[in-house]
Amino acid sequence: MNAPQRTNNLDAYWMPFTANRQFKSAPRMLVGAEGMYYRSDDGRTILDGTSGLWCCNAGHNRPKITAAIQKQAAELDYVPAFQMGHPKVFELASRLATLFPGDLDRIFFTNSGSESVESALKIANAYHRVRGEGTRYRWIGRERAYHGVNYGGMSVGGIGGNRKSFGPLMTGVDHLRHTHDLARNAFTKGLPEHGAELADELERIIALHDPSTISAVIVEPMAGSTGVLLPPKGYLQKLRAICDRHGILLVFDEVITGFGRLGAPFAVDAFGVIPDMVTIAKGLTNGVIPMGAVVARRGIYDAFMAAETPRHLPELPHGYTYSGNPVASAAALGTLETYDDEGLFERAAAMAPVWEEALHGLRGLPHVIDVRNYGLVGAVELDPIAGAPAQRAFAAYLDAFASGLLIRTTGDIIALSPPLIISEDEIGRLTDTLRAVLQRLT
Ligand SMILES: Cc1ncc(COP(=O)(O)O)c(C=O)c1O
Repeated sequence: MNAPQRTNNLDAYWMPFTANRQFKSAPRMLVGAEGMYYRSDDGRTILDGTSGLWCCNAGHNRPKITAAIQKQAAELDYVPAFQMGHPKVFELASRLATLFPGDLDRIFFTNSGSESVESALKIANAYHRVRGEGTRYRWIGRERAYHGVNYGGMSVGGIGGNRKSFGPLMTGVDHLRHTHDLARNAFTKGLPEHGAELADELERIIALHDPSTISAVIVEPMAGSTGVLLPPKGYLQKLRAICDRHGILLVFDEVITGFGRLGAPFAVDAFGVIPDMVTIAKGLTNGVIPMGAVVARRGIYDAFMAAETPRHLPELPHGYTYSGNPVASAAALGTLETYDDEGLFERAAAMAPVWEEALHGLRGLPHVIDVRNYGLVGAVELDPIAGAPAQRAFAAYLDAFASGLLIRTTGDIIALSPPLIISEDEIGRLTDTLRAVLQRLT
């Protein structure tokens, strides 16, 4: 056997959500990162137009986060998550609770967005059960939603390509229609005018199943992964009102929209709608250490505490070995401090108009059928090549990377979500590079 080949080649690593064969034929390797930029193994500087994977909201290699992790690892590396505590996780939960409006102030820690979603779905059903409404088990998701890759999240999710390979999925799930409507809303700046009425469909689905069987409705307030699909004006308010009318919990999956992305701390603030639970991850630790959480309204937690579980037993039989891990907690505290010190959520709001203008300057380029934006997120939708969906956008992705810009593509949509530290000049550089890429596209 050939030892060097066995220990250092590209074969062993099965890459997630990656075209493995294409990648391994022409690898794109990143070896360093600082601020707004990555460094590739061939010594090039790559402008990060996507905050890694929607997670490095404060940019890269931030000193407070790095120092917090180093110090914590040296001081207290691990504590059993079950039946034991450590100060940092309580500090973090208390701090997070102050970031959310109203009584959204009980925090359950996980290690990823997918686990946050699974946890929220389980909490919803268990909550109804402890209140004596155990018939409520159905979850309502939405087409074109991404709620991670575990069975619950995939089942409430609405991406055919992610669902088709994995069997019958969860039973007791139904879906709302998605709200993406280019015929009425193309090239909108900010929230689309048309489509609030799509929320009324929830009444029809509820009537079909009977409200007494429905546990929760879960939506991304802005669908990120399927291409930045913004909620039509009034849509989320309608969902809230319908859920209230029928005693159904509303869950916002804020794994992408949280931590300043929309020019406000959370979508909850940006859109003025308060759900019963919020799922978070990614920007919670600036992507540096895996961590996620479910933020629940106090009444949900209280219902478990008021149940007749014997005092020596867990009120909720759910959790992860790494829930609230000390190093992750320290990373999150360092991240929140960085956001705070530098006023990054406010900065995102201040830069949003510059971002909007620059992005909409791409209108009129070849194949561009929509440009949309909100806060520091944006999308450029391309006309697909007939019979070859996603190919045109993937070509743009490769060309952008070769041109020193990291973008993300999903189907034929280019999704952009730069770190909140981006400057006006860098916005210009990003859109200039993208313009050149789009002009070269065939
Ligand atoms: C809205 C939403 N929910 C859940 C997830 C899954 O998060 P993770 O990849 O951390 O499991 C993502 C990831 O992009 C997401 O965008």
